[in-house]
Amino acid sequence: MSNVDLSIKIGNLELKNPVMLASGTVGYGNEISNFTDLSKIGAIVTKSISLKPRKGNPPQRIVETPSGMLNAIGLANVGLDEFVKEKIPFLEKVKSTLICNIAANTIEEYIECTKILDSEETIKGFEINVSCPNVKEGGLSFGNSVSAVGRITEKVRAVTNKPIIIKLSPNTATIADFAKVVKEEGGDAVSAINTLVGTSFDIYKKTPKIKNVTGGLSGPAIKPVALAKVLEISRSIDIPIIGIGGIMDWKDVVEFMIVGASAIQLGTVNFINPNAGLEIIDGLEKYCKEMKISKLSDFVASYKI
Ligand SMILES: Cc1cc2nc3c(=O)[nH]c(=O)nc-3n(C[C@H](O)[C@H](O)[C@H](O)COP(=O)(O)O)c2cc1C
Repeated sequence: MSNVDLSIKIGNLELKNPVMLASGTVGYGNEISNFTDLSKIGAIVTKSISLKPRKGNPPQRIVETPSGMLNAIGLANVGLDEFVKEKIPFLEKVKSTLICNIAANTIEEYIECTKILDSEETIKGFEINVSCPNVKEGGLSFGNSVSAVGRITEKVRAVTNKPIIIKLSPNTATIADFAKVVKEEGGDAVSAINTLVGTSFDIYKKTPKIKNVTGGLSGPAIKPVALAKVLEISRSIDIPIIGIGGIMDWKDVVEFMIVGASAIQLGTVNFINPNAGLEIIDGLEKYCKEMKISKLSDFVASYKI
C-alpha cells in the first residue's frame, strides 16, 4: 500500500495529520523551526496569549521529576499587540496550521482577545485555556467550574466562526461533564489534558523546588491519567477530542487514538527531541502500512471494552 491517509477533521478544521505541537512548549514557533520542518506538522498551538503582556511567575519555574517535569511559568507571554505585530508575520511563513491559545483573567478578556484575533487570517482556530494550574486568577478557577466553562464557550462562540477547542483540566472529578457543556454551548472540540497539580521539595532546605510552591506536572508520568480522561470523555460525549499528556512516540499516539482522540498534541517531548513530531508522523505511516489500513482516523475510538 503506497498512500496512507493521515488527515483528520476537527469540526471544519482539516489537518494533514493528527500531530499538533502543544501550547507553551514551542513558544511562537521560532526556536523550534531551527530543529524541525514545521510545514510537515499538522498544527502548531501558540503559547497562551493574554490581552496584556504577562511576566509570569518568579524563578525557579521548572524542575525535573521522575518521568516528567513540573512547571509554574504562570502564562508569561508577550501580550496580544506584540503577538500580532511581531509573532504572526513569522508564523505566516511557516506553512502549518496555526491555532492560537488564549488565556484570560475574566470572561470579557477571553471575548476581547478572540474578537481581535478573529480577523487574523493566519489563525485557523482557537484553543481556549481554562485550565492553567499556575495562575492566581482565571486558570483553574474557571477550569473547575462547569458553568464557567459553559459561559466562556458560549461567549467565545458568539464572536467567531473559526473552530473553538476548549482545553480541559484533569484536576476535576468528572471531566466528561466539562466536555458535555462545551458541546452544548457550541464548542467544536476539547483538548485533554492540561497539566496535573504537583510539587517537589528539597529535603535538606525543606523548601519547595519551585518558587510558586506547586506547578503543573507533564511528561510520560501523566500519560495513563491523560488516556483515562480521554476515554472517559469518549465514552460519554460525541465531540472531537485532542489527546495530550506524556506522548513520546508514535505508539503513544496510536494508544490515544484508540481511546478516542482524533488528534494529539506533543508537549514535554519537544524539549527532549524537537524533531519528535516528524519522527512520529513517519512512525504512524509505517504503522498504517503494517496494519494494512488506508486511513489512520479509522482507529479513532476503536477500543473494545
Ligand atoms: C513549560 C510548559 C509551559 C506550558 N504552557 C502552557 C500554556 O501557556 N498554555 C497551555 O494551555 N498549556 C501550557 N502547557 C501545557 C501543555 O500544553 C500540555 O497540556 C501539558 O504539558 C501536557 O502534555 P505533555 O505531557 O506532552 O507535556 C505548558 C506545559 C509546559 C511543560
